[in-house]
Amino acid sequence: MKELPIGIFDSGVGGLTVAAEVMKTLPAEDIIYFGDIARTPYGTKSLETVRRFSIEIADFLIKQRVKMIVVACNTASSLALATLKERFHLPIIGVLEPGVLKAIKSTKSKRIGVIGTQATISSNAYPQAIKTIAPDIQVLNQPCPLFVPLVEEGWLEHEVTKLVAKEYLTPLKENQIDTLILGCTHYPFLKGVIQVVMGNEVVLVDSAIEVAEEIKKVLSQNNGLRPQNSNPVYKFYVSDTSSKFAEVGKRLLGNEIQVVMQVNV
Ligand code: DGL
Repeated sequence: MKELPIGIFDSGVGGLTVAAEVMKTLPAEDIIYFGDIARTPYGTKSLETVRRFSIEIADFLIKQRVKMIVVACNTASSLALATLKERFHLPIIGVLEPGVLKAIKSTKSKRIGVIGTQATISSNAYPQAIKTIAPDIQVLNQPCPLFVPLVEEGWLEHEVTKLVAKEYLTPLKENQIDTLILGCTHYPFLKGVIQVVMGNEVVLVDSAIEVAEEIKKVLSQNNGLRPQNSNPVYKFYVSDTSSKFAEVGKRLLGNEIQVVMQVNV
């Protein structure tokens, strides 16, 4: 069991932010990553569709014999995590809860903002998760659908991105939140622009960093960590031709992406 890889999946390239944090936090672990680039984005799709895609991918990862599944996609975590946990009997970790716990610890004003795709925000999964633990906290939600294409275009500091960020985030700023959850794989790339609009006093919670710590905790509790001196093997699978994935992936992970294999789930 210890020797098996960790399975990570996302709707596309964005989940590589989570893979990168897992590589840093758990450098001895093997990883199998699946990016559903044929069917991305998930953030504009229905509950039923995102659940169906997530089940198909989990089936694929289990066939590859993973010891754990990490749902790196915030949209899939918001819409499909409970379904996956009911259906499959191995540890499954989503990105919501670790980010939520960090945000609850961080807020002093008891006002937390959450930004994500339209599907994530419509699901209400973040406010529910926060209110279950801390009912007295006020949660302000904001979908930011243009952020994903802007990041994929590489417009991380572009004037257009700054304008869009101002438009989306001003209501949150006016409502005096002191903590903002970046509830989407792509948003950590926009930390600079988001911080400028929100001001330095607002804490930005990056789910990718929090989830890597959670994986470490769960594996060590289950005695599932590989020996520290093991050399990791990384495998990358995608559902469409892989050139864009490999290009963005190389920017993010450097030489860790060698071969990207195309598969049909
Ligand atoms: N991975 C998605 C998320 O974290 C963003 C991209 C998409 O919409 O598929 O919500």
